[in-house]
Amino acid sequence: MSDPEPIVIAIDGPSASGKSTNSKIIAARLGYVYVDTGAMYRTLAWHAQQSGIEVTNAESVEALCRDWPAELVRRGDSIWLEVDGYFPEQEIRSAEVSAVVSHVAQVPFVREWMKERQRSCVQFGNLVMEGRDITSNIFPDTPHKFYLDASAEVRQARRDADGVEENLAARDQRDSTRRAAPLKVVEDATVINNSGESPEETSARIIAMVQGG
Ligand code: DC
Repeated sequence: MSDPEPIVIAIDGPSASGKSTNSKIIAARLGYVYVDTGAMYRTLAWHAQQSGIEVTNAESVEALCRDWPAELVRRGDSIWLEVDGYFPEQEIRSAEVSAVVSHVAQVPFVREWMKERQRSCVQFGNLVMEGRDITSNIFPDTPHKFYLDASAEVRQARRDADGVEENLAARDQRDSTRRAAPLKVVEDATVINNSGESPEETSARIIAMVQGG
């Protein structure tokens, strides 16, 4: 008998909507592999900065991505992109990378490159994958689709508490209005506003829905 298809829990939402916190809890509880696709875009944005590329120039970003020897690597129960065997874990969370990442993420070639790698993550097993276009573009056929949200005030307060200085509204605007795979709520996603909820409550709700079929 052939192996069953891997299960994918797809979680989208704007910045600081609780995607990472909840995805990690859910993956740990269910024994699934966690994939942070935002980290992949951040890793490319970091690489562009390292290479002195103008990140708002789509042609330069495309050319960089075409020749990028980055590889998917499993570290513990998470998947990351490594560049020459190095994962820039701290660097990709900097204010500089946060400020430019959504420019890199709107280049159509980059999105196709990421899509191929993100889909191939099923090679690692059952997944909890978070991002902006997982429910709409990467795994549109999974029955487990969630869109997390929280009020703008709560999201900005969460980011401030992380100690990261950035204008979330500007990034969310770029992520929601770009042409290629914008952030949106798909028809069959469950929308969860977690402004007044703890991650334990939110993740328990999601697990119950996944297990309830
Ligand atoms: O989730 P995050 O803040 O780390 O994501 C960083 C950026 O990457 C985000 O502003 C938009 C982009 N992104 C994307 O376009 N598509 C995804 N699936 C994930 C992230």
